[in-house]
Amino acid sequence: MFDERTRCVVLVGVQWGDEGKGKITDVLAEQATLVARYQGGANAGHTVLVDGEEFILHLIPSGALYPDVRCVLGNGVVLDPWTLIDEIEMLQSRGVEIEDRLGVSRRAHLVLPYHKQLDGAKEAAKGSSRIGTTKRGIGPAYRDKIARNGLRVCDLADRDYCWDVVREGAAAANAVLDYYGVEERADSEAVMTRLATVTKRLLALGTDTGAEIRAELAGDGRVLLEGAQGSLLDVDHGTYPFVTSSTTTAGGAAAGVGIGPTLIDEVLGVVKAYTTRVGAGPFPTELQGEEADRLRNLGAEFGATTGRPRRPGWFDGIVVRHAAGVNGLTGLAVTKLDVLDSFDEVLLGVGYQLDGVATANFPERAADIARVRPVYEKEMGWKADTGSCRSWDELPDAARHYLKRIETVAEVPIRLVSVGSARNQIIRVD
Ligand code: IMP
Repeated sequence: MFDERTRCVVLVGVQWGDEGKGKITDVLAEQATLVARYQGGANAGHTVLVDGEEFILHLIPSGALYPDVRCVLGNGVVLDPWTLIDEIEMLQSRGVEIEDRLGVSRRAHLVLPYHKQLDGAKEAAKGSSRIGTTKRGIGPAYRDKIARNGLRVCDLADRDYCWDVVREGAAAANAVLDYYGVEERADSEAVMTRLATVTKRLLALGTDTGAEIRAELAGDGRVLLEGAQGSLLDVDHGTYPFVTSSTTTAGGAAAGVGIGPTLIDEVLGVVKAYTTRVGAGPFPTELQGEEADRLRNLGAEFGATTGRPRRPGWFDGIVVRHAAGVNGLTGLAVTKLDVLDSFDEVLLGVGYQLDGVATANFPERAADIARVRPVYEKEMGWKADTGSCRSWDELPDAARHYLKRIETVAEVPIRLVSVGSARNQIIRVD
């Protein structure tokens, strides 16, 4: 992926998250000098398998598992300081030294305990119309950021300022908790006490991510900007309101680390060979019953952050084409092809019907997305093990045909195919 002309790559999820970005980031990070997260927070769960050992990372970029790669969290990330410290310590306890090559943007906003309280209270109050969030406080933290009542890493140096923000934040949170009929209250003093335990360490990690990345690219560095969640969870381009609260798509990468878009050379979309979604919201190609159970179990589709069973479905070409457009994808990395190895036939969504009328567009309203009927193409299964394939030519004919159809429907060339969770189970496509 990286070469003389390609030195800054954005990696984005093309569906509803959980596409296997952790694995692809890990593969690309081998050639990178710096890996940066640009949005989201500890709602993400990136799983990476190294020498049979599984690592699940929520905040720290997946590049962490290469000892020479610098890892940074950009200003677009909302940072839960205690999760970050736990993750640093988890990695250290497993022999991965990270703290001296980790940076967090001094402009990144913090997720505070009352953000999590608010997330939980709102979800509980909404009952069956809840979003199904990860309850990591993501929405409320971004809301405070946009409402200009957020606390940033740099602010930790000024305790009086922190008091002002936290006092107002906790009071506002309490009004909302009251509105939702929740007895639990935000406690500004407790927040300040907890913050004091992480302040020194966070300030020491503070950096200017934009300046770092620009310097890296001015030299001979190679930078990977790692997206979390997926394009259909983007606050603008996803299935609103069943989305996360950040710009997950490639357009958010530049703003989320502090560089100009002109520095980005390629945008690689990570897409599963089928589709999954976790949480509520419309999902046109969703499977039900036994077929869903089979795909879920074969793909081990259980959330890395919440452990929730994911909702499985067939590949949806309309979703992927929509994502290809809004991200300006230059290539695709198809993951989990091996999960389909045992199927007699595989369905590929190539269009939608809305009220009996064919539509090539992805509808804006969740209510309409919930009503579309997918139009499928039936592809022959390959009924062979792809997990041991290491080149395009080694793949069974029917698997190659399926991938070619994905490429045609998405209108984006496939650059990588992942056929298992291990680092070496990857096929590079010329
Ligand atoms: P939030 O980001 O926790 O506010 O959750 C909003 C929506 O995004 C919910 O449907 C979550 O299930 C979904 N979501 C958030 N993070 C991820 C992720 O990393 N993978 C898949 N879905 C996610």
